[in-house]
Amino acid sequence: MYSTIATEQKNGLLKITINRPEKLNALNDIVLSELKTMLLSMRDDASIKGAIITGAGEKSFVAGADIGGFLQVDKTQGAQLAMHGQDIFSMIEQSGKPIMAAVNGFALGGGCELAMSCHFRYASADAKFGQPEINLGIIPGYGGTQRLTRLIGKGRAMELMMRGDMIDAAEAYRIGLVNKVIAHNQLIEEAVATMQLIISKPQPALSALIEATNAADDDTKDGYASEAKSFGHAFASDNMIEGVTAFLEKRKPNFK
Ligand code: COA
Repeated sequence: MYSTIATEQKNGLLKITINRPEKLNALNDIVLSELKTMLLSMRDDASIKGAIITGAGEKSFVAGADIGGFLQVDKTQGAQLAMHGQDIFSMIEQSGKPIMAAVNGFALGGGCELAMSCHFRYASADAKFGQPEINLGIIPGYGGTQRLTRLIGKGRAMELMMRGDMIDAAEAYRIGLVNKVIAHNQLIEEAVATMQLIISKPQPALSALIEATNAADDDTKDGYASEAKSFGHAFASDNMIEGVTAFLEKRKPNFK
């Protein structure tokens, strides 16, 4: 069904693998449109509770937007390309179902931006991160200037984008770009275990916390108001009644 994405669903968890290993999983138009279709079908499929995004092959998560067609892109098309990528990565960030990145190698340019659009990130010990667009005479266009700044702070983000070089997984962990660094051959196993734990939590509460937490990054929204609204909404829900009752009865909750 997809030519540049591989999917695998098990126990409510979807593994989405960007699958162009011969081009280090670079994001061309087809990958972006398949990713969008995938996200829409994930949203509408009640059997999917959450997802992991990773890259095919041993070497790369995603080595960036596909540079191959760049010389044919003019000013207007460049802006359109950026907005298209931004829209799709925002769909990931705003997904009501948790999505994590399992960064298994190069996460450069659009690859680093894809990882940053996920709700959180684990990396293999050999992963490499960077925003090397400056070396091509351009700048990050899929949300990188915004999300990198929010994740690691303005000074560090400026330096990484201005230098255009790579940092390793240990440094990415040190500056808060990734949550955890794991041996390459254990990355997926550990990502799956974490996501299985997360998707066992009550789904409406997960969606509410994603929405309220995202509001912290959005100057157009009042994050406190969003939190209060979602907090109130969670009250008197079936899951809240079950979770609180189970706590009071000293037993494990049985969420629907
Ligand atoms: N777009 C298009 N093709 C890409 C690509 C990208 N972003 N990144 C890698 N590729 C392709 C290479 O052109 C090469 O294709 P070929 O075999 O047909 O020549 C293939 O993937 C393997 O890459 P290669 O450069 O040979 O691997 P390497 O191990 O020597 O180097 C990188 C790996 C990641 C350091 C290097 O590929 C690179 O710098 N890529 C571009 C990263 C970048 O600037 N990304 C931001 C884009 S805005």
